Amino acid sequence: MSTVVIAVANQKGGVGKTTTSVNLSACLAALGQRVLLVDMDSQANATSGVGLEKIEGASAYRPLLGEGLLAEKIKPTAFENLHVVPSEVDLCGAEIELSQMDHHLYRLRMALDPIRTSNRFDLVIIDCPPSLGIVTLNTFAAADWLMVPLQCEYYALEGVAMIHRVLNQVRDSGTNSGLELLGVVMTMFDGRTRLSQQVLGEVRQHFAAKVFDTVIPRTTRLAEAPSFGKPIIHYDKYSAGAAAYEVLAQEVLERLISLAPVT
Ligand SMILES: Nc1ncnc2c1ncn2[C@@H]1O[C@H](COP(=O)(O)OP(=O)(O)O)[C@@H](O)[C@H]1O
Ligand SMILES: [Mg+2]
Repeated sequence: MSTVVIAVANQKGGVGKTTTSVNLSACLAALGQRVLLVDMDSQANATSGVGLEKIEGASAYRPLLGEGLLAEKIKPTAFENLHVVPSEVDLCGAEIELSQMDHHLYRLRMALDPIRTSNRFDLVIIDCPPSLGIVTLNTFAAADWLMVPLQCEYYALEGVAMIHRVLNQVRDSGTNSGLELLGVVMTMFDGRTRLSQQVLGEVRQHFAAKVFDTVIPRTTRLAEAPSFGKPIIHYDKYSAGAAAYEVLAQEVLERLISLAPVT
């Protein structure tokens, strides 16, 4: 398998993008996949979630502007097979600066290209900011697959309509005609509430098989883990949250294998 790039996106904040990016990356790495987590959100929660600190000049920001190589920004983590391109506050400026550049939607794609061809990683997982701005569009242009976390709440489906529209625009405009939805992952599921059940039912009806079978439960352990700089499987290996992300990682791999183009 050549390097596969997955963008984890949803324009809403607080739906579980970062939690999913970090924990999915860690679980895939634990399964032996060589994973690069790219933190594209200036809040840098994925960076701290894998135990790194924001460091000025350490992010994808300069490589996006064509200054230096993205590969030089790759840092190891304390976890085997898991590397990260950290984020920093500078990335907020990228929206405006990128918009004034040539090929402004393809900056990340160009920056990732040498990393793809080096075959150093099996998977690149990109944690997107909570918007559909230029940085997110750059990840859509760079990715093979889009993964959308949806929080089990009343307005979940509204966000999805928007993502669909943008996905179609990205494809139809030729920005990235190959971009496909890998799947929708339901997060913060609370089996005790009817709302969670109802939303899950509606999303499954709407997306059918695109919804991952694995549903991520709402658990405090998942919310605590980042403050220790550890993905859940290293923070509390036998928790419900760890089990859920481990199964999700399996499911993602199976889906990638079954959907991979035959070459
Ligand atoms: N399954 C979960 N159970 C409990 N808390 C969660 C869960 N997933 C995410 N959270 C918490 O919800 C908040 C938002 O999650 P986050 O992954 O940062 O969302 P986003 O990246 O989409 O903004 C964070 O405080 C996170 O710790
Ligand atoms: Mg986030």
